[in-house]
Amino acid sequence: MRDWPSDRIALGGDYNPEQWPSHVWAQDVALMHTAGVSFVSLGIFSWSWLEPEPGRFEFGWLDEVLGLLHDGGIAVDLATGTASPPPWFSHKYPDTLPVDVDGRRLWPGSRQAWCPSSQVFTEHAVALAEQMARRYHDHPAVAMWHVSNEYGCHNLPCYCDRCAEAFRTWLLDRYGDLEALNTGWATAFWSQRYTAWEQVLPPRATTTFGNPTQALDYWRFGSDTLLAQFVAERDVLHRLSPGIPVTTNFMTLDHFRMLDYARWAPEQDIVSTDHYVVQVEDPRHDQQAELSFAGDLTRGLAGGRPWALMEHSTSAVNWQPVNPAKPPGQLLRDSLAHVAHGADTLGFFQWRASRAGAEKFHSALVPHAGQDTKVFREISDLGEACARLAEVVGSRVLAEVALLWDYDAAWACGLQGHPSSAIEYGQVPHDLHRALRAAGITVDVVAPGTDLAAYKVVLVPTLYLCSQDTADAVAAAARAGAQVLVTYFSGIVDEVDHVRLGGYPGAFRELLGIRVEEFFPLLPGQTLTLDDGSSGTLWSELMRCEGAQVHASYADGPLQGGPAVTRNPVEAGAAWYVSTRLDQTANRALLEQVLAAADVRRPVAAAEGVEVVQRSDGTRTWTFLINHTDRDAEVSLAGRNLLTGRTVSGRWSLAAGAVAVVREDD
Ligand code: GLA
Ligand code: ZN
Repeated sequence: MRDWPSDRIALGGDYNPEQWPSHVWAQDVALMHTAGVSFVSLGIFSWSWLEPEPGRFEFGWLDEVLGLLHDGGIAVDLATGTASPPPWFSHKYPDTLPVDVDGRRLWPGSRQAWCPSSQVFTEHAVALAEQMARRYHDHPAVAMWHVSNEYGCHNLPCYCDRCAEAFRTWLLDRYGDLEALNTGWATAFWSQRYTAWEQVLPPRATTTFGNPTQALDYWRFGSDTLLAQFVAERDVLHRLSPGIPVTTNFMTLDHFRMLDYARWAPEQDIVSTDHYVVQVEDPRHDQQAELSFAGDLTRGLAGGRPWALMEHSTSAVNWQPVNPAKPPGQLLRDSLAHVAHGADTLGFFQWRASRAGAEKFHSALVPHAGQDTKVFREISDLGEACARLAEVVGSRVLAEVALLWDYDAAWACGLQGHPSSAIEYGQVPHDLHRALRAAGITVDVVAPGTDLAAYKVVLVPTLYLCSQDTADAVAAAARAGAQVLVTYFSGIVDEVDHVRLGGYPGAFRELLGIRVEEFFPLLPGQTLTLDDGSSGTLWSELMRCEGAQVHASYADGPLQGGPAVTRNPVEAGAAWYVSTRLDQTANRALLEQVLAAADVRRPVAAAEGVEVVQRSDGTRTWTFLINHTDRDAEVSLAGRNLLTGRTVSGRWSLAAGAVAVVREDD
């Protein structure tokens, strides 16, 4: 494999030179040098410039840009250009346009307006990828291939007739025959029994709640269908451009759950993702904690290896109702937080802020106001920091705690007809992660199926859908010595969304030594008190212990006196259960006990609000300290701060908003 630049943390972003007159291109490369930019992602939305008419290709401009970049020593993550088809394509093949849930065909005019099942789209995309690979496979600037862009961001699900046909094929493959489909989809309910395949449809808008397993399978089908689109292009690149890694940029941020990235990650040569901090009204939401979670999830998908942050923003985005700018210092903090959580590449959208078009008010490395700006100065500082952090490249994040995260469970958890629509899959995973982050503990967010042997603590929050294999692996981890913590609405159904009988949570009942008889969801604003003084919202359960010890009980409400939090000793480990959404103080206190039982300690003493993450290459350890507060904060750690070059020892003060990366063996 050709090496992605590794003599520093790679810094760069999306480069869209076709939006600018050619005399700007040389200025761009010179400015990239000034800023310390070492790579660009090129040509992502260039299809209509690369192939202005069917089969007629124009590569001259790209040759010129690649030449300039290469002369300037900028590595290129070259797009296949297939993210958005040109107007001629949609005009010539109007039935490739996606269809929404109500049956309305969408028009072109924005981007990604193509049906995921369209073979015509695949053929044209693969043909363009082939042209690109043939022309540029040995171009010395090209260090990575970037296929499409944020698959599924706008065109999933599509409900067209072609997708209906492809869905049937996918279902036949999954179930084998119609009989098995009827069983899986439980069509004895509401007279839904199918007697011929052509009766089977996507979950289009209907009279009331649709069939939940049909809806769940449609998520799986959509993800697999787009993955096949990626693989088709990737295979062409592997064949014609061997040795150059291929990636597509995921969206591992919390609000995007369209694709099952656990199935996508093994198909990538380098796992890459995009991340934007977003405004969320939920009072428990913490932007910085969400950023850390996304990094921990991306790292989990990458199997612990360093990953590439393909896009984030230097300041404001332009797609929220109000788009706050990043105050001074946040750019560096956000970027280095991604590095702390395992990124070796820092990309931004985009190099130069557009003058026109739908994203002209999105921040960039070069703002409308030019080089003499806060943003450009901060990018140049970041460029310097990336060089100073060169030795961190390739190292791995240290974590002793795993948190199971599953897109299948997320999709199933979000289906209709549940005991409470206020249960949202991400709530408890983020609660637990946030509490641990505040306690200075790093978490690997991993998919079920990941080897859990290395973890001292395994968290299983609201894993509503759970396979027997996953349940067995969690139980095995507990028996081998891990402290396992399971929360409410976990292990309720199997892979076809059928309830596990005999008492909840079926998949984990034995491990936990409990039996839940009935759910008691709470109304918005309703709070229950526990006998240890903590409180619970959203959910509660009528349960009894069958071997487990009561850790805390309900002190009021209809379940008064009943168990709320339990602990079951299991051979070398233990299994804890939490039946309500605890307040954050209680989560923190409970997790402190779980950590203590597992002998997991925070690696470095730091004041509240200082994020601590460690990376190691097996010999050297680097501690990232990020002060997210507006006060100077005390830290105890000795070593050399790579960002300043100074040694630190004993107790010292990390300035408000500052970051330190301390190598400890100095
Ligand atoms: C996504 C896309 C980019 C751009 C940014 C704006 O991440 O990949 O092309 O639209 O959003 O935030
Ligand atoms: Zn379709």
